[in-house]
Amino acid sequence: MNTFRLITGIPGPSGFGSASTAEQVTEGIDATNLTAIITGGASGIGLETARVLALHKAHVVIAARNMEAANQAKQLILKDNDTARIDVMKLDLSSIKSIKAFADNFNALNIPLNILINNAGVMFCPFQLSEDGIEMQFATNHLGHFYVTNLLLDKMKDTAKATGIEGRIVNLSSVAHLHTYGGGIRFDNINDQRSYSDKKAYGQSKLANILHASELSRRLQVVLVLLFSSRLFYKWKT
Ligand SMILES: NC(=O)c1ccc[n+]([C@@H]2O[C@H](COP(=O)([O-])OP(=O)(O)OC[C@H]3O[C@@H](n4cnc5c(N)ncnc54)[C@H](OP(=O)(O)O)[C@@H]3O)[C@@H](O)[C@H]2O)c1
Repeated sequence: MNTFRLITGIPGPSGFGSASTAEQVTEGIDATNLTAIITGGASGIGLETARVLALHKAHVVIAARNMEAANQAKQLILKDNDTARIDVMKLDLSSIKSIKAFADNFNALNIPLNILINNAGVMFCPFQLSEDGIEMQFATNHLGHFYVTNLLLDKMKDTAKATGIEGRIVNLSSVAHLHTYGGGIRFDNINDQRSYSDKKAYGQSKLANILHASELSRRLQVVLVLLFSSRLFYKWKT
């Protein structure tokens, strides 16, 4: 979406734009057979996404670091939709240990996973390091989502194979991805406090979100192409 469209809300080729609501975009969708994880689903865009997916009967898992806020969000959704299927699970994206525990707990539930919405984010915070020693915005917004996605990918592939329904991974980025340090992402200098800019560090984490989504799309489509051609090969052989 270009900046003009973003500001004016003029719809794009999909018929939707920045002024469209989540309810408008999902109108008529039956998500009864879908399970979605929404990181940071206890507030803001994540909460609205959780509310609307639940409205369409999806099973929604709110993954949040603040369990009290997550439980309040769940009650808020249930107030207007008492049949909503909402679960809350603990996830702190700035902690490798917490991410691993979340993925283990989710995988142990033995339920499908169709949609992963990588929404949680910290914005413009003063310089700080995560518990694993990585600049906080990069650690939370990008590395946390990169790692949790990797840990859930097999579950998503298995679900797609078993149900015939394509999975979806959604990374929330921002127009701020255009405002990074010179050269884009400072892979060799992520933790440089002296030249730290809260806005540029946010921008680089949002650029990383886009690159991650783009590479996932490339790799997962490659998997599809390979499956397709191996089927062709099989047909040719028999
Ligand atoms: N709002 C905008 O105008 C805008 C524009 C462009 C892009 N975005 C992107 O959209 C996404 C959502 O933004 P928003 O405006 O809805 O933000 P928000 O209201 O601040 O919500 C962010 C959510 O992320 C959670 N979170 C933060 N750190 C976390 C961590 N370490 N582990 C797990 N959860 C964590 C927060 O939980 P706590 O309550 O525990 O902090 C909160 O629930 C972000 O990725 C943001 O970059 C937003």
